Amino acid sequence: MNVQAETHSADATTVEAGLAADNFSGPVDSKAATELAMQNTLLTPRFYTTDFDEMDSIDVTPVRGEWDALIAQMKADPNKGHFKKNEDWDHIDWEGMDPKLRGELIDFLVSSCTAEFSGCVLYKEMKRRGSNSDITTLFQLMARDEARHAGFINDALREAGIAVNLGFLTQAKKYTYFRPKFIYYATYLSEKIGYARYITIYRHLEAHPEKRFHPIFKWFREWCNDEFSHGEAFALLMRTDPKLTESFTNKLWIKFFLTAVFSTMWVRDHQRPAFHEALGVDPAWYGQEVFRKTSDISCQVFPLMLDIDHPRWRRGLDRLDAANRIIARAKRQGGIGGKLKQLAGSARAGLAFVSLLTIPAIKNEVPVSSRMEPAY
Ligand SMILES: [Fe+2]
Ligand SMILES: [Fe+2]
Repeated sequence: MNVQAETHSADATTVEAGLAADNFSGPVDSKAATELAMQNTLLTPRFYTTDFDEMDSIDVTPVRGEWDALIAQMKADPNKGHFKKNEDWDHIDWEGMDPKLRGELIDFLVSSCTAEFSGCVLYKEMKRRGSNSDITTLFQLMARDEARHAGFINDALREAGIAVNLGFLTQAKKYTYFRPKFIYYATYLSEKIGYARYITIYRHLEAHPEKRFHPIFKWFREWCNDEFSHGEAFALLMRTDPKLTESFTNKLWIKFFLTAVFSTMWVRDHQRPAFHEALGVDPAWYGQEVFRKTSDISCQVFPLMLDIDHPRWRRGLDRLDAANRIIARAKRQGGIGGKLKQLAGSARAGLAFVSLLTIPAIKNEVPVSSRMEPAY
């Protein structure tokens, strides 16, 4: 306890330096971290609620063999002892860290913790409300994993004297309603892109260990295998009803979700230049690499993939990023002038998004069996 208190008071000086620094973006204490986690903007992780009865009525008979194998693998719990600090957990000199990097690292951890916990809340609620044992078993197992993930990140944050108040979030954060099919598309993608993000950082740091400025990255390989399995489960859920991926309208929805998830990641990552520089990663390279892995994987169930090599793709993403910077600057400016600039920025962001959405997609023949193993 003493150690923590000391770290906390020592942080106050760093925090002042941080606030003075340009573009300081991270929260400075638990209250600010929880406030950041409470935000519901287009770019921050949300909490979801859905029609739990409809989800509970899913019949997994059409994918029974693959389903039982996946559940058995998850029940075996290969990562049971993984999310604990051990001798590999290096000491972090939070006080000595460059304030900009520190702010962005904390922002990254808070946002990751919120995203992990968002999964936990949704999955736990499905388990609580359901009566279909196939569904409740799966959601219980996924909630178990996400609780570990969120808890582990919060442990890392505590060393900086900060923690996200997860209990408070459950009570107070706004829940966004999504129809079950939108939950499948969005959650499937967030699990698979989560896998691709974690494994890409892990492999990069495996090749450049000197860039590993925080020990949490060492935990990413086993961690992302959990996310991979969660994604597999959603792929199977979608395969129980071919309409979900084959009807004309649903194909449009899939394209929309792919574009929204990819472009949100692009904009968010470009908000953390110091973080990526410290990792030795160009956020544009990282983005495209993660999109490529996610696209390859999502061919297991989606009948289309985005053309991320299309000339308009990168241009659209950069325009979206530029529009987002205009909005952020306008928000800081405030007043009527700021509001007007914010509106103009939002219009530009909207146009950039539409331009991304109108890039022709690449058709994909979905294989008979969807099951994949994490191979990156
Ligand atoms: Fe997770
Ligand atoms: Fe997950």
